[in-house]
Amino acid sequence: MRYSQMLVPTLREEPADAEVISHKLMLRAGMIRKLAAGIYTVLPLGVRVIHKVERIIREEMNRAGAQEVVMPCVLPADLWKESGRWDHYGKELLRIKDRHDRDYCFGPTHEEVITDLARREIRSYRQLPINLYQIQTKFRDEVRPRFGVMRAREFVMKDAYSFDADEAGAEQSYERMYDAYTRIFQRCGLRFRAVEADTGLIGGRFSHEFMVLADTGEDAIVSCGECAYAANIERAEIGDIAEATEEKPTKLERVQTPDKKSVEEVTAFLGIPPERLVKTIVFETEKGAMAALVRGDHEINEAKLRRHLGVTQLELAGDHVVADCTHAPKGFAGPVGLDLRIVADYALQGMRNVVTGANEPDTHLINVNVERDFQVDEFADIRLAQEGDPCPRCTGQLQISRGIEVGHIFKLGIKYSEAMGATYLDQEGNERSLIMGCYGIGVGRTAAAAIEQNHDENGIIFPLAIAPFHVLIVPVNNKDAQIMEAAEDLYQSLSEKGAEVILDDRDERPGVKFKDADIIGIPLRLTVGEKNLKQGKVEIKARGSGEVTLVDLQEVPERVMGMVSAWLKDSCFLE
Ligand SMILES: Nc1ncnc2c1ncn2[C@@H]1O[C@H](COP(=O)(O)OP(=O)(O)O)[C@@H](O)[C@H]1O
Ligand SMILES: [Mg+2]
Ligand SMILES: [Zn+2]
Repeated sequence: MRYSQMLVPTLREEPADAEVISHKLMLRAGMIRKLAAGIYTVLPLGVRVIHKVERIIREEMNRAGAQEVVMPCVLPADLWKESGRWDHYGKELLRIKDRHDRDYCFGPTHEEVITDLARREIRSYRQLPINLYQIQTKFRDEVRPRFGVMRAREFVMKDAYSFDADEAGAEQSYERMYDAYTRIFQRCGLRFRAVEADTGLIGGRFSHEFMVLADTGEDAIVSCGECAYAANIERAEIGDIAEATEEKPTKLERVQTPDKKSVEEVTAFLGIPPERLVKTIVFETEKGAMAALVRGDHEINEAKLRRHLGVTQLELAGDHVVADCTHAPKGFAGPVGLDLRIVADYALQGMRNVVTGANEPDTHLINVNVERDFQVDEFADIRLAQEGDPCPRCTGQLQISRGIEVGHIFKLGIKYSEAMGATYLDQEGNERSLIMGCYGIGVGRTAAAAIEQNHDENGIIFPLAIAPFHVLIVPVNNKDAQIMEAAEDLYQSLSEKGAEVILDDRDERPGVKFKDADIIGIPLRLTVGEKNLKQGKVEIKARGSGEVTLVDLQEVPERVMGMVSAWLKDSCFLE
């Protein structure tokens, strides 16, 4: 490619409305432009990167035995009504009407469509297992689209769906996708970690998120410093720590705490550390209201509580519900005399003489003791993990880091096949529900995550496997015929050898060319300059390490091809 003929509108100045580095750099490198909130046009350089990511995904999905299909973007509401999601998906679902006033939506995900295909086309166990995937445009009307293509409203996803005859098969399909994802993100040159993710009511270990490690990541990852345990914060379990105390229960007392509601206010007022206070939080669920207890210095993990209760809806109770249940305004709820199901966090086991709300306005109780003063229905692991908490699998401690979710694999079971009647006939001729799994990768987000991990103050440093080009040739002076001839020759011979080359043939000052080279982050830069060329040499510079080597003009193609294939091998495990 010739730079002069390519649309690469690089920007010198910092884009004002970009919060994370990958978004800034994708704008500055002229890879993307915003059309509307969360809706982007991808420019030629960006397209090349996206295509590389897609190619790696396709190769690994095909290798894992999956087959590519393409499903529509615009989906009839009827299918979504069958699965029940037309009513439950909420505002993220972009609903549209056609000219006949019929309901459609722009697909945010394709379980319904694929299940419909499966129930029509799969009849017998002989057709199983089968895994179908697509790389296709999704729309989710996110409340807060941000970070460019990282959290967009319109975005490209690879989504795959597996169908199996039995649990063992479904587990195998899941493992196969786990391995394929590992290869995909390795080949993209990413530092990532697969972490256990919340499975909602399905339970078990059958959901993993592939997290690219980055401080700017939106997700918190909990991992053990000593064993392989790693989980999304929503999912992360905590090893049991409640130690029995020697403390003897003392006399229960009522104290006035006028207008003191928050943990900080109450503990400061009473002069106690936050861990001596027990928070009583009232939730509403489809099974009715309940109260959850956690220590003042801990936070409730709603995903864990939801799973423990076996409910799908769990919301903080509104003021009137709190008032009805506790006879006090919010901030003064407590477990003593409370007529609700009470679930307490494990850390409260054996706690003595704690402070709680008194279920009376402006009043707290001190020296509250479980069993003597109130009963707990169950103790459970219902709080958010914190740095230093004990590991649930070993004696190690948990650490918290941040990540970007680039992929998600999930065992669906028979949720959709049962709702939509997708069955097959087993060997004995019995009709059984297909067992499904679903597997997503955000294509644009993966490219953005790679930039988040690989850049410096001057611009992007693309991993070779997903770089828009392998090599950038910079002739420093377009007016110098010798320089231009050498640059053209290199361009020809490298292209013939299979390298992806861009020649900066623009009539610009060298400073401008070098600045752009740094911003767009092509892994290798060949500088053809007057002085070196007189000695028959060309400079090869690695964008990542900054290492510069002077190489004889004739040897350049071989040297460059050697570097390219060595790097490709490094991140790509093709045998
Ligand atoms: N708004 C978005 N913008 C870009 N990529 C997204 C977006 N939402 C999801 N993705 C990508 O698609 C993958 C599968 O999405 P999924 O797990 O269904 O979404 P979520 O985690 O938001 O429920 C995610 O791992 C992510 O890489
Ligand atoms: Mg997800
Ligand atoms: Zn551990």
